[in-house]
Order: sequence, then structure tokens, then C-alpha cells
Amino acid sequence: RENTIVLGIETSCDETSASVVKDGKIVMSNVIYSQINIHKEFGGVVPEIASRNHIEAIGNVVKEALFKADVTLDDIDVVAATYGPGLVGALLVGLSYGKALAYGKAVPFVGVNHIEGHISANYLDSDFEPPFICLIASGGHSHIVFVKDYGQYEVLGRTMDDAAGEAFDKVARALGLGYPGGPKIDEISKSGDPYRYNFPKSFMEKDNFDFSFSGLKTAVINQLHKERQNGIEINVADYAASFQMNVVDVLSTKLIEAAKFKNIKKISIAGGVASNSLLRERLKKLADEEGFVIHFPKQVYCTDNGAMIASAGYFDFIRGKVSGLDLNAVPYLKL
Ligand code: KG4
Ligand code: ZN
Repeated sequence: RENTIVLGIETSCDETSASVVKDGKIVMSNVIYSQINIHKEFGGVVPEIASRNHIEAIGNVVKEALFKADVTLDDIDVVAATYGPGLVGALLVGLSYGKALAYGKAVPFVGVNHIEGHISANYLDSDFEPPFICLIASGGHSHIVFVKDYGQYEVLGRTMDDAAGEAFDKVARALGLGYPGGPKIDEISKSGDPYRYNFPKSFMEKDNFDFSFSGLKTAVINQLHKERQNGIEINVADYAASFQMNVVDVLSTKLIEAAKFKNIKKISIAGGVASNSLLRERLKKLADEEGFVIHFPKQVYCTDNGAMIASAGYFDFIRGKVSGLDLNAVPYLKL
């Protein structure tokens, strides 16, 4: 269907976001209100505080998204909102708000899987389309997925413990870099020696696309303790660079190997960690060597946002998938 306008709402974690997207690809507005500054002093997201702030923000965020797209509620054909996975209280805010809007305007409502949203970031402002192999690496999830078609997924691998972004955040905390750790490690690594520490790499055997980052995290922390005990001055940049290179090695190798395994020549990345500059650089190089097409969503579409939810909602909708207004939040929803 041409000219289908979807309002997408995302409140699964600490971003309150709403976006207006046409035909699943054309972003007319994308408003993101980040609560990072509120949660920073606690060293991570506090669920109860997140829910309360979503409640305060959601009305204005949606209003602003409509205003920036130069539309009114009457122009919205479909409302889509994240219903999982995520923090239950946070999810309920966007989900309830979205359902109420859809009910009030008598338009279809589509509940969206947040991970499917991250994958759909690849369709925004772009002509990239399935089939492809996608690495989704965020604060809550790490998956390698074969995207056969819109809405058709085969999970090839996943993390056995910490998600990639979670590992970045925990190591950053150990290094005293603050929250969220990913961007901080990315930045400081530029002045560090990535070969200084050779931390163990996880699950590197062939045709296994699962990964594990908790051993790496522990190795970093143990090394820190050892050096501190021995009075050695800690070089934070070397730690960050060595850790980051380890994660990038694992993620990029697994993504390329999965694509070869499935004989698919198109790859992409999504999720907060997809904005990591070394990961992008490495994957670009590897993809060129292999003759693969690689797609990077714009940075703003990598971290949580309403546009990716609107896109996923659109492709669900045109395939006939709409949700009932009794849809509940599902904190541990799987892809
Ligand atoms: O997708 P996202 O915004 O939220 C979740 O759904 O989890 O991802 C947030 C995660 C955080 O762990 C953050 O540290 C990480 O993405 N991240 C990065 C970078 N930017 C954000 N990790 C590595 N390098 C970055 N540049
Ligand atoms: Zn996310």
C-alpha cells in the first residue's frame, strides 16, 4: 500500500521516542528524548525511574513527532509500539499510549518486537532489503539473524550471557569511564594500544555463531586487580582498546562466517553497538575483501528510536499482522 503513514512509539528502556514514517522507509520525523542524564548518576537504568519519566515525556514526544512531520493524528494510518522485550513498566507506557491513540482514532494497532525494530532500522532512508544476515548488538541483546524476508527470521547465534553492549557498559564501569560505556570506550580506544592485552576470545570455533562476553569481562577485571595490587599505573586507553578489539574481532568474524555459512552476500548491523567506529571500519574492510554488500543504518537509527518501530510495524501491517487492544507487554519476548 502506497503512502501508508505509521506512527511508531518506543519506550522499552531509557529512550522515549516517537516517529512518523511513510511506507516503512521514509522518515518524516524521529523525536528521541533520552533519559541518560537522569540514570547516569546510578550507573545504569533504574526501571521505576524510567517508567515515571516515560509517563511525563510521552505526550510531548508524540506531539513533537507529529508537528515535525507536518501531520496531525488524522493523517496517521497505523499506530505501532514496542511491546517487548524490555523493562515491563517502561514498555507499558508506550504500549498503552499507542493502543489508546489507535482506539481513539479507530486505526489499526501493531505491537512490535524491539529486536525486529532494530533489524528494521536497516530499511530507513534506504533501499536495503532482505535477504541478508544481520548482527544485532545492543545493551540487552546480541544476535546473528538470517533475515529471509520481512518478518521472517532464523536466529543463527546469540549471546550465552552478557550482551555486547552490556559488556561495554560493565568494562567501562570497571575502568571508571561512566555510563553508557560504549561511546566512552569507543572514544578513548582511539588513543590506546589494542595489542597491549591479549584477553581470551570466546566461542571462536567454526560454524558456531553463539558468543559469550562474560569471560572477557572477568579477564579485564582480574587484570585490573592484578595491576592495581602491584602498584602498576592503569592505562585506561590500552585496556579499552584491547577489550574493544577483542569484541570487534568476535562479532565481525562471526557475522562474516554466518554469511558464508548461509551463502548470503548481504550483511548488516543494528543496535547500539552498531554505532561503534572500529566495528564499522573492520566490517567494511572484511566485506570488501569477501565481495559482500554491507549496510550500516545511520547512527541515530542504531540506538533505540521510534522510526525503527514504525518501519517494523509497517511491514507487519502490510503482511496483515495487526494486534488486539488486549496486547500486553512481554518483557522477555524472543525474536
Ligand atoms: O540499542 P540500544 O540503544 O539499547 C538497547 O536496546 O539495549 O543499545 C545501547 C547499548 C549500550 O550498551 C551502549 O553502551 C552501546 O549500545 N553503545 C555502544 C556504542 N554506542 C552505544 N557500544 C560500543 N560502541 C559505541 N559507539
Ligand atoms: Zn534496543
